[in-house]
Amino acid sequence: MLACLVSKKERRVKVGEWPEPPCGPTQLLLKIQACGICGTDREIASFQYGEPPQGRDEFVLGHEAAAQVQAVGSAVEDFGEGDWVVPVVRRPCPHASCRACRVGRQDFCTTGDFTECGIRGADGFMAELAAVDQAFCIPVPESLGELAVLTEPLTIAEKAIEQVFAVQARLPYECQHQGKALERGPGHCHRALVLGAGPVGLLGALALRLRDFEVVIYSKEAPGGKKSELARAMGARYLSAQETAIPEIEKRVGPLDLIYEAAGATGVAFAMMQALSTNGIFCFTGVPGRRGPLSIEADDLMRQLVLQNQVVFGTVNAGKEAYFQAAQDLLAIAKKFPGLLPKLITQRAPLKRAPSLLTEAPSGIKNLLLCHG
Ligand code: BGC
Ligand code: ZN
Repeated sequence: MLACLVSKKERRVKVGEWPEPPCGPTQLLLKIQACGICGTDREIASFQYGEPPQGRDEFVLGHEAAAQVQAVGSAVEDFGEGDWVVPVVRRPCPHASCRACRVGRQDFCTTGDFTECGIRGADGFMAELAAVDQAFCIPVPESLGELAVLTEPLTIAEKAIEQVFAVQARLPYECQHQGKALERGPGHCHRALVLGAGPVGLLGALALRLRDFEVVIYSKEAPGGKKSELARAMGARYLSAQETAIPEIEKRVGPLDLIYEAAGATGVAFAMMQALSTNGIFCFTGVPGRRGPLSIEADDLMRQLVLQNQVVFGTVNAGKEAYFQAAQDLLAIAKKFPGLLPKLITQRAPLKRAPSLLTEAPSGIKNLLLCHG
């Protein structure tokens, strides 16, 4: 079969022949219908990130898959041929002492010895086929079809939102807003600013809109473009960094209860932290490159965090529950905002074009590799 292979040692990304994976008794043999490309893949393809499985130099890239079951192992009962599934990215570490991994929450692994398919220590899904243990396959509705590739990037937002609600459970009064209609008035999680309009930003904005947040998307693209059109379609406001400076945001939209960072741009993120409201939460999801030191007014920032009861947290990866939630939310988004999800898919290219898509300047929102036909 064909697969997109990365060799860090030889600094090479290519699509080439790779052995078909054998399907073990508890595994599903997956026909990968589509695999998304994200910033992590680009970093791996430029040899700045990623690790092959032990004892090997080359490995299969890709972690955002939508697949159909082609065959099942002898001990598999809950999946059948033709089912649509999304494989989970991260696999637990082997250590008995890691409580996170032992309860299936390897997204909180404490030892760092987890593996991630297509990223670190395990093969990924930019291939015609992959064999994945049933425990790491999430059934997704057939009606989503290839849009199921959005499940994995959406899990990042699902985990973040789950934590936002957990953090705000600290407030000694009930949020009047959570999950309820806006007419009931603002609660402690009423207005969110989404920083960045890439897939994780836009999917986060959609997940927040589903929960009736008032959402403002802040991004570098000028107004009137595709990003502001998408914002309008989901009932969110769009503010362009070209028009609105960070200190102006609060004046234009009011206090920000939540800032969901999905741009991976350190300077903007720390400047934006100053716009956070009292009792607010700032959530980092982006992984920045290393661009050297950045100076911030640390005294002011620390004073602000303390005097305004603020919480800043980072979040990576996601547990299985977030995958189920993401699949369910994609259906809900498709119903609430018809026609919007397909607009997030900006390119569909055959697997053999993987090396060029991974190394060309990034364009569009979510670009897909069609791994079959
Ligand atoms: C993936 C996560 C992964 C992270 C760090 C992201 O692109 O979506 O699942 O944990 O990269 O490797
Ligand atoms: Zn990713």
